[in-house]
Amino acid sequence: MSSYENYTETSKNYDKTRESVGTEIIIGSFAKAATPLDQMVVLDAGCGTGSYSEVLVNHVKRIEAVDLNPGMIEVAKHKLANAQSQGKIALQTSAIDTLPFEDQTFDGVMINQVLHHLPDPLEEGYPLHRKVFQELARVLKPQGVLVVNSCSHEQIRYGYWYYDLIQEAMEALQSRYLSLDTFPSLFEECGLTYHGRFVPVDAVIQGKPYFDPHGPLNQEWRNGDSTWALATESQLERAISKVQALDDQGDLVQYMNRCDARRKEVGQITFVVAARK
Ligand SMILES: C[S@@+](CC[C@H](N)C(=O)[O-])C[C@H]1O[C@@H](n2cnc3c(N)ncnc32)[C@H](O)[C@@H]1O
Repeated sequence: MSSYENYTETSKNYDKTRESVGTEIIIGSFAKAATPLDQMVVLDAGCGTGSYSEVLVNHVKRIEAVDLNPGMIEVAKHKLANAQSQGKIALQTSAIDTLPFEDQTFDGVMINQVLHHLPDPLEEGYPLHRKVFQELARVLKPQGVLVVNSCSHEQIRYGYWYYDLIQEAMEALQSRYLSLDTFPSLFEECGLTYHGRFVPVDAVIQGKPYFDPHGPLNQEWRNGDSTWALATESQLERAISKVQALDDQGDLVQYMNRCDARRKEVGQITFVVAARK
């Protein structure tokens, strides 16, 4: 389960404020694997409601999708019922650090915005991240491709306008994201070769709702980004009061645009690509 977000509750509305951005980067990266794209068997590790699988399933041979949260898996099963009945996808509840698959099963593995949910403190050297990378490498075939969708610390600082309202939560989130600079050496430890980073600079993971200046006042909107779950009650109250005050003064849209300015340069997410040796 996520170490801080209640995904059983969030699964009910997750898709209203989340989009599977950057799938073109995943497809482009998979296209460089040894197996032709349309013959690839792919793992979606931490699939959530299956939004990334829903796109990828039209490009690859078959997907195995796993997530720790049964609520998220239920939504994914509903969404992908057709693909499931055609044998194009199988979905199951599983942790990503102990996967129910044989060694060298997959031609490609994608893991989208999952790693920061691992209860893995910086001071202990992120042992769970290491374990997960080992596990993902184990199930990849030689020359199979791994795509990790994550965020740089700079993206967390500047990529989400409303984090200005919940700065303590933003800092707590930053400490949950492993620095992208450490990925190449961690990959190397697991027998993976680092290939590079790609930023879909214009992509906004919440889609249009991201630009709703009143969004922070709405619980359903906040559920689209688990960072809100890292804010204490009093920090949340303070954030809501600030939005209401800015709105009363007629300054809310201007505030949102000011806080959003750097996102256009740094983007919100980064795809890190590697291949099994
Ligand atoms: C932010 S959501 C991302 C979902 C999906 N990959 C997407 O991008 O739409 C994070 C997901 O990771 C799952 N998760 C967190 N820790 C996990 C673990 N140890 N094993 C499997 N799934 C996990 C959560 O249940 C949640 O569905």
